[in-house]
This record gives sequence, C-alpha cells and structure tokens, in this order.
Amino acid sequence: MTSTDVLFRSFRIGSMELANRIVMAPMTRSFAPAGIPGPAHAAYYRRRAEGGVGLILSEGTVVDRPASRNDPGVPFFHGERALAGWKGVIDAVHTAGGRMGPQLWHTGGVKSFLTDWVPDVEVESPSGLDAPGVARGKAMSDADIADTIAAFAKAAAEAKRLGFDTIELHGAHGYLIDQFFWSGTNLRSDRYGGATIRERSRFAAEIVAAIRASVGPGFPIILRVSQWKPQDYAARIAETPDLMADWLQPLVDAGVDVLHCSQRRFWEPEFPEIDGTEGLNFAGWAKKLTGAATISVGSVGLTGDVMGAFNGEGSTSVGLDKLVERMERDEFDLIAVGRALISDPTWVKKIRSGDTEDLKGFDTTDLAELV
Ligand SMILES: Cc1cc2nc3c(=O)[nH]c(=O)nc-3n(C[C@H](O)[C@H](O)[C@H](O)COP(=O)(O)O)c2cc1C
Repeated sequence: MTSTDVLFRSFRIGSMELANRIVMAPMTRSFAPAGIPGPAHAAYYRRRAEGGVGLILSEGTVVDRPASRNDPGVPFFHGERALAGWKGVIDAVHTAGGRMGPQLWHTGGVKSFLTDWVPDVEVESPSGLDAPGVARGKAMSDADIADTIAAFAKAAAEAKRLGFDTIELHGAHGYLIDQFFWSGTNLRSDRYGGATIRERSRFAAEIVAAIRASVGPGFPIILRVSQWKPQDYAARIAETPDLMADWLQPLVDAGVDVLHCSQRRFWEPEFPEIDGTEGLNFAGWAKKLTGAATISVGSVGLTGDVMGAFNGEGSTSVGLDKLVERMERDEFDLIAVGRALISDPTWVKKIRSGDTEDLKGFDTTDLAELV
C-alpha cells in the first residue's frame, strides 16, 4: 500500500497555515432557502473539519448583484441574515480546528442544469450569452461591470471580517468570470473584450486587484479556473503554455496567491504534445509558468468523474498511488477532493490511518441531504 504521508505535510500561504494538503472542493448543495445558510450548514462543514480536511472551500455563494445566482437554494454572501449564517459556519469550523474560505460566485448568463428557476431580473453576462451562440439575458454595461467588481471586493472584505481564513474567487466552469475569459462568450469590443486572452482576463484582474485592496496584504486569495466548461467539455481557454501564461500571469500579478486548476481527472496531462502522456497536469503547468501555489482536483479516490454525478452516477473508491506520485514530485501544492467528501466527512481520517476497506466512494443519494 502506498504511503500517503506526502498529503499530510503542513502548508503556509500568507496568513494561513494548513495542517495538511487536502482541500474540500467547493460544491453547490442548494440547501439555503431565501439564500440564508443555517445550523445545518455549520454542522455539515464542521463535520469535515473534525474529519481532518486541511482547508474547506464552501459551496459557491453569490455576491450582491440582482441576478447573481441561477438556483434559489444557493446561499448569498451579502445581507445581514446570510452573513450571520456564515459567521455561524466559520465559528463552527474554527472550533473544530479547521480552516475555511467561501467560494465567491456570480453565475452570469448561465442557466442551472438542475432547476428551471430564473431570477426576477434579467441575467447578465459579457455579451448576453449562456454558451457560444446561445442568447440569454443582457450584455453588461460599464456601470454593471463596475458594480460587480465592487460587489466581489465587498464580499471578500466581509469574509475577512467574519473570520474566514481565505476566499476563493470562482473563475471557472463557464460562469460569469469564465464567460469573460472565453472567446465564445466574450464578444465585447471594449476594454473587457478583445482577440487576446490577456485582454479578456482584464475583468478578472480588476476583480482580484479590488479584492486585494479590500483585504490588504497577507490574506490569501485563491482563484479557481478551468479550461473545460459544462457547456463544452472540450473548450480550452489556453491552447499553449504561452497562452496559459498570458491568461494566468496578469491574475497572479493582480494579487492571486493560489490558482485552483479545475480538471475532471487530475492525472490528465495538459499539454501531452510537449511532455508526454504522463506530463504535467493543469495545476502543474500553472505552477511552473506563474510560480504561484496551485491546487489540483478531479476524481481523486473515485472511479467516475464529476459530470456523472449530475446524471445519477455513483462512483466506487480507488487508490491514491497516482496522486501520491505527483505530489511527491511537487507538481502542485494542494489537492481538492469533491464527491468523496460529500458521502464521507471522515474520508481524510480514513486515508491517513490506511483504513481503505471502509472508504465509501460516492453515492448520489447523499446529494439529497447535508450528510
Ligand atoms: C454536487 C456538486 C456541486 C458542485 N458545485 C460546484 C461549485 O459550486 N463551484 C465549483 O467551483 N465547483 C463545483 N463543483 C465541482 C467540484 O468542486 C469539483 O471540481 C468536482 O466535483 C471534481 O472533484 P471530484 O471528482 O473529487 O468530485 C461541484 C461538484 C459537485 C459534485
């Protein structure tokens, strides 16, 4: 059996010290009616802290814009009642010795694939699209953009005030920020659009700079990015390492400390034409190109990948040999685990003690409640 010791080294970034390298991936659970997280959320996240997760990232929680969410069960990260709920969450996690950051989100022009609910004002996005060629809602004005940047900065400041250890900005999976990155959904001809990825990164870079100004130095900022999108699994923002540097370096320069590089399967090489089929993954390349710390993710400890979860597919557990090998090479710094932690809050403890017989895998029925 492979030793997993490499996962249990501590890690420091800015003001945040983590006991190990395992991160709970951000996962929308849609259990916040009226946008308010409650005691069930506090207990759910506390169980993961008690179970030994090094860093918990919350489900996506939305900033203060009229149409920032696409599902009525998604929690707000604004307003007195929602923020009081989040205070209960971070206090519970800290009591159990955990570390946590909220994932700050705006769903842009994207329709949820779980519900037909729509907000009561028009949805907004760079060019009034959901996916390339699919019209939905309005293109954002300069004033909409400025207000959205301010809303992200305000949410980050609130997170710090409540006592969270970090924040994650959701720039992945085809939602608002990713709609600006993606040439298929950003058709703007102003300063937030353009033919190059460096130009289309400007919106995200301005958000990051505003967040950095609002939280000050030392408070870690994580940015989640992906090449793939639920709208198009094969989509790519950066086809080459040079383009990846053009995409990510301005964001690191603006204040990002950690890049959370979302893949559906962590072992897949990002540019196999350069370093082969066992080559660096997305997080590996992002770390090599920018020098920033990175988090990898994708089917850790499970047989099937994430999109199966939304088609009712469970997954059984598999060993961590491939992960351990990559972490021993320092390809990336941290590893996020999603579905395995939905079904089993004690997953990390079992990995540490080698109690692999008892690993549960992922059962889709566990999505029906906050286990
Ligand atoms: C139910 C569910 C909800 C998710 N919601 C989010 C989300 O709000 N934000 C996000 O960035 N990713 C979200 N994801 C993706 C996960 O963070 C993670 O990247 C993905 O599940 C792959 O990790 P895994 O294979 O370990 O599950 C979600 C995944 C699942 C299964």
